[in-house]
Amino acid sequence: MNCRCALRFGHSTVAAYSRIDQQHLEEPMTQRIIPITSTNFIADRALDNPLDWGAIFGQTRPLALEIGCGTGHFILEQALRRPDMNFVAIDIYNKGCLKTCAKIDAAGVQNVRVMRVEARWLMEKGLQPESLAAVYINCPDPWPKKRHRRRRLVNRDFLISLAHYLVPGGDFFFSTDFDDYAEDLSGQIRGLPGYRNLLQSDWAHALAGYPISKYMQRFLDKGQPIYFIHHQRDPAVSRHDLPSPAVQRGFRVDWHKAEND
Ligand SMILES: C[S@@+](CC[C@H](N)C(=O)[O-])C[C@H]1O[C@@H](n2cnc3c(N)ncnc32)[C@H](O)[C@@H]1O
Repeated sequence: MNCRCALRFGHSTVAAYSRIDQQHLEEPMTQRIIPITSTNFIADRALDNPLDWGAIFGQTRPLALEIGCGTGHFILEQALRRPDMNFVAIDIYNKGCLKTCAKIDAAGVQNVRVMRVEARWLMEKGLQPESLAAVYINCPDPWPKKRHRRRRLVNRDFLISLAHYLVPGGDFFFSTDFDDYAEDLSGQIRGLPGYRNLLQSDWAHALAGYPISKYMQRFLDKGQPIYFIHHQRDPAVSRHDLPSPAVQRGFRVDWHKAEND
């Protein structure tokens, strides 16, 4: 497939045609790449070994990950509420990372770092097992059309892998405006060893103390409900008794390779 990709060379932005063979990259994702110079931004090329988060933050605190931070509303609010934790906010969207960095820099918070990286790539390349105290996924792309649902980021394979990266007792939060995604995820996670539902039912329409993201706010403003899911990495189950992490397949899983070829 020929795909128009924006490639960054040094400080210039070059639109180039690049040949991408990955079958899952079914649609071109064109982004004008604006270099991010914030000291709170971590270039993904640093991902040769699991990252040393203590060195990156200059302090060892429980580490939380937001996947798909968008423009950073949620992570800024959460970082302000929890100065006792470190946060890494990731997105594959350059402009989102840029805006997130701008918010973090302007607020002067010290406990957030931002990366432009694909979630499954970061897990495999940049994280140690049992290193995340919390994971947040807010309003991920819902892919509402039936034929596109296999593109969703959060599926059984993703959940199986994620369980290995959460510390025992760590939190997994998921929110969506789309009932079908909430139902799908609830059905998948219910039967998986290593997760324990912390809610009274599969989901709730409000979570006390949980910041509202930009997308959540948009839906709430239209009078649409948000479906919140909150599970814990079940401390009673040893990591060695979890199902082995599956080879991650799916839409955009090869994003990193495509963007850097
Ligand atoms: C619908 S937006 C929601 C943004 C934000 N969480 C909010 O609630 O306002 C979904 C975001 O997830 C990002 N995203 C999608 N797939 C991703 C992946 N595999 N890894 C990292 N980020 C991803 C998109 O670039 C986009 O910014």
